[in-house]
Amino acid sequence: MCGIVGYVGQAGLGEKSVEVLLGGLKRLEYRGYDSAGVAIIDAEGTLGSRKKAGKLQVLVDDLEASPLTDGRTGIGHTRWATHGGPTDANAHPHLADDGKLALIHNGIIENFSELKAELLAEGVEFLSETDSEVAAHLVARAYRASGDLAEALRTVVNTLEGAFTLLVVHADQPGVVVGARRNSPLVIGLGDGENFLGSDVAAFVAHTRRAMSIGQDQLVTIRPDSVEVVDFDGAPVETTEFEVDWDASAAEKGGWSSFMAKEISEEPEAVANTLLGRVADGAVTLTDLDGVRDRLLTVDRVIVIACGTAAYAGILGKYAIEQWARVPVEVELAHEFRYRDPVLDERTLVVSISQSGETMDTLMAVKYAREQGAQVLSICNTQGSTIPRESDAVIYTHAGPEVAVASTKAFVAQGTALFLLGLHLATLRGTLSSEQIAEQVTDLQAIPDKISRVLESAERIRTLAGWMADTRSVLFLGRHVGYPIALEGALKLKELAYIHAEGFAAGELKHGPIALIEPGQIVFVIVPSPRDPRSLHPKVVSNIQEIRARGARVIAIAEEGDAAVLPFADEVLHIPLAAPLFESLLAVVPLHIFGMELAAAKGLDVDQPRNLAKSVTVE
Ligand code: AGP
Ligand code: GLU
Repeated sequence: MCGIVGYVGQAGLGEKSVEVLLGGLKRLEYRGYDSAGVAIIDAEGTLGSRKKAGKLQVLVDDLEASPLTDGRTGIGHTRWATHGGPTDANAHPHLADDGKLALIHNGIIENFSELKAELLAEGVEFLSETDSEVAAHLVARAYRASGDLAEALRTVVNTLEGAFTLLVVHADQPGVVVGARRNSPLVIGLGDGENFLGSDVAAFVAHTRRAMSIGQDQLVTIRPDSVEVVDFDGAPVETTEFEVDWDASAAEKGGWSSFMAKEISEEPEAVANTLLGRVADGAVTLTDLDGVRDRLLTVDRVIVIACGTAAYAGILGKYAIEQWARVPVEVELAHEFRYRDPVLDERTLVVSISQSGETMDTLMAVKYAREQGAQVLSICNTQGSTIPRESDAVIYTHAGPEVAVASTKAFVAQGTALFLLGLHLATLRGTLSSEQIAEQVTDLQAIPDKISRVLESAERIRTLAGWMADTRSVLFLGRHVGYPIALEGALKLKELAYIHAEGFAAGELKHGPIALIEPGQIVFVIVPSPRDPRSLHPKVVSNIQEIRARGARVIAIAEEGDAAVLPFADEVLHIPLAAPLFESLLAVVPLHIFGMELAAAKGLDVDQPRNLAKSVTVE
């Protein structure tokens, strides 16, 4: 995730790359903001570049203090780091060919290590830790061979694996920006005597509403008076123009009504990007943990520490790690953990989960755990944040920046990272066969597409939420991995719609909560798969009957084909079949949508709920 802008303009329009690039990056800042940079080719054919860690404003201020020579050709980037912390050196653009070529990248190049080794063997010097800089040197090498920038980029993209949008310029070819995309976004803006490229139309909507999409594995060359699109084999591709109907403010959210809506729509990508480079040929390869491999073999228990939504993801991890790696797992609220004098030693693995990496409760618990001799592994979505720096190892989720206070895509990415950790531990400890691991990996890799299918029910959920806009209480029931989903669904309603909502284990119903059931009480029930021989499905269906008998209004989330719930639920939201543990990542999606839509139906601020902050940096 990051913001990408490209610009070329004819002489008569003046030297305005700086203004176009910075303006475009500003509108894209929500896509990633740990560092930013621009590269511009001036009228003399000299390439100038500036890049700074920190928010975009740091770069803007720096350019105001010491301006670059402006020009009519340029590229700009806001970074959301995946490989290498947010530093000036790791910021984009990356230069090559003696500073005459500049490249920016959105995504993850999975095979960068082996490509980097090749270049190092050729004597190439690297200035950053990023995967992206490898692409810059590869394109420079190809350009020196061909003398054609588009041809050079096309040669290189055919050697890359993973997700990338790349833009490249070369001082020898002013007036030309070449871009290519695979699994990351790129659109063309069509101007009059000028043309644009961007991660989405927000990059150029202030200058033109005429746009053109670029398909998977396609490469585009823009000049002031021409746009050429070819596939990765070099064959011309037909493209269609469209009119951008977003206003500029909507464009900042990628056209979505709220950041939360945008981020829910990115849940498939968040899972897919967290898996990128970590699963292949039916096995899990978590090179992130190579440094602690030996200690992981001696671990005799795991304690997960987190807060809020991250803690609920931790419960998913508990079920997975215990089932696959046969290691006992406790899940603790970070703010409770260190005040109960827990017993820790060097064989305890403490796993912290934090989207922001700055939650003070979790940070203090991590520091305490390390003081007690435990090893700490963090799962985090923000490169260079504090908690990973205080940990022995980190598994970064690659959900991209999460702007809305209510966490959605980070949750499914955290669950994915925990499933990877569970399979990794099972591999190290030999508690699952390679066939069993392969089966889980195959199921996990299918989850992004299955989440996309669940997102298709968003309209129906919006209608449901509209009917319930005046409700004052909603309960959520779940069992096994449905239990943390019930907790997550309730939290979303509390923090978004400001209504009382409670999630609890369905088995707990008869031990008290059933007294809450009265006619009209809305209850969401996450129904486990009936296909699992040890399934709790019959028990949950009985729970539904018990509460229906007392007048509850039941909305069941059940897998496609589960006919047993139909007679007892008022509404059934179906999810695709998946392995029982992974169905949790599907069942949570309707609850994220419901929380958002109920808040919207009540006219509340979906992205910035009252009393809340995105990162709670106080204890
Ligand atoms: C979730 O929607 C809330 N915003 C909150 O519970 C959040 O999950 C919690 O504060 C933890 O934040 P972190 O993941 O950044 O540590
Ligand atoms: N993987 C690249 C990096 O870490 C690009 C990240 C992004 O998409 O911003 O620099």
